[in-house]
Amino acid sequence: MKIKNVQIDGIVALAPMAGVADRAFREICKEMGAAYVVSEMVSSKGVSYKNERSTELMEVSEIEHPCAVQLFGNEPETMAQAAKTAMQFKPDILDINMGCPAPKISGNGNGCALMKTPKLCGEIVKAVANAVDVPVTIKIRKGFDEESLTALEVARYCVDNGASAVTIHGRTAKQMYKPYADWEIIAKLKQELDVPVIGNGDVTDAKTAFEMLQQTGCDMVMVGRAALGNPWIFKQINEYVLNNKNVIPLPTADERLLVMQRHIKKICEYKGEKIGMKEARKHIAYYLKGFHGAAAFRNEAGRLCTYDDLLRLVEKVKNSM
Ligand SMILES: Cc1cc2nc3c(=O)[nH]c(=O)nc-3n(C[C@H](O)[C@H](O)[C@H](O)COP(=O)(O)O)c2cc1C
Repeated sequence: MKIKNVQIDGIVALAPMAGVADRAFREICKEMGAAYVVSEMVSSKGVSYKNERSTELMEVSEIEHPCAVQLFGNEPETMAQAAKTAMQFKPDILDINMGCPAPKISGNGNGCALMKTPKLCGEIVKAVANAVDVPVTIKIRKGFDEESLTALEVARYCVDNGASAVTIHGRTAKQMYKPYADWEIIAKLKQELDVPVIGNGDVTDAKTAFEMLQQTGCDMVMVGRAALGNPWIFKQINEYVLNNKNVIPLPTADERLLVMQRHIKKICEYKGEKIGMKEARKHIAYYLKGFHGAAAFRNEAGRLCTYDDLLRLVEKVKNSM
């Protein structure tokens, strides 16, 4: 598929996930077959204050292309300035977060709160699209709550003002992450819009990815939580969808441990061992799900401080197999 002039070869993307889908994880997912990846959300205000953390979040690696940096904010001018700054990291696409339901984001009128004001969404897209040369996309939810199901209206305003693709998560902000995502809204957007639509919400394996593509006609599916500790899901989805429902064998225990180590090593490289290992703990817990004695190992993962600690834990896990 093409997002304006950006070619994306594949049918599955990694979802932006603050606190987990960092550069290290995105690289691993790319290697495993994710066709497109999006950065963690970055505060446009943080960028305008030259906040170091915000700047770091925008760094992308060569292997990530085609990829997007995602910005959040509700002031068109601040968003446009942040978009210009983001361009120094050479993303192929700039994505605008209009879906985050977290109170600290939406409570300040950002993320999903924007869905209550479709016109403002259009103004933000216009300002950003005028500021940069790359395609601008949006990531939305179904609406803010059941009384305000504005997905189609927001998408139309944004497309009319220059958005080149829409990712839709079929839940309202009020629903957060439960119950099931509504895929009908994805199908509706696909029917109504003439830009690519990326479907998101509750793709848990290759079969559900196939079903979302079939049922909604979306151009690509986006996977979030199901990729945590399980980056193989991208290979599995690609094989199943593109190769006649072929089911590939699950990764062996050794393979899972090896990829985990490579992933954590990358985190330490990019963030330094001290911060890196703190952030790695949650990933390690995800990777160790399903191993014999996992509960105790995951508990131990929560206390790891150095990469060598991880290597010792891996030995213990191997010895228990
Ligand atoms: C830990 C976490 C962090 C997230 N951070 C972001 C974010 O920074 N930007 C965004 O647009 N969505 C964010 N999301 C939402 C996901 O991109 C996705 O829409 C949602 O998880 C539904 O997809 P899934 O069912 O495949 O997980 C986040 C979700 C999770 C679980």
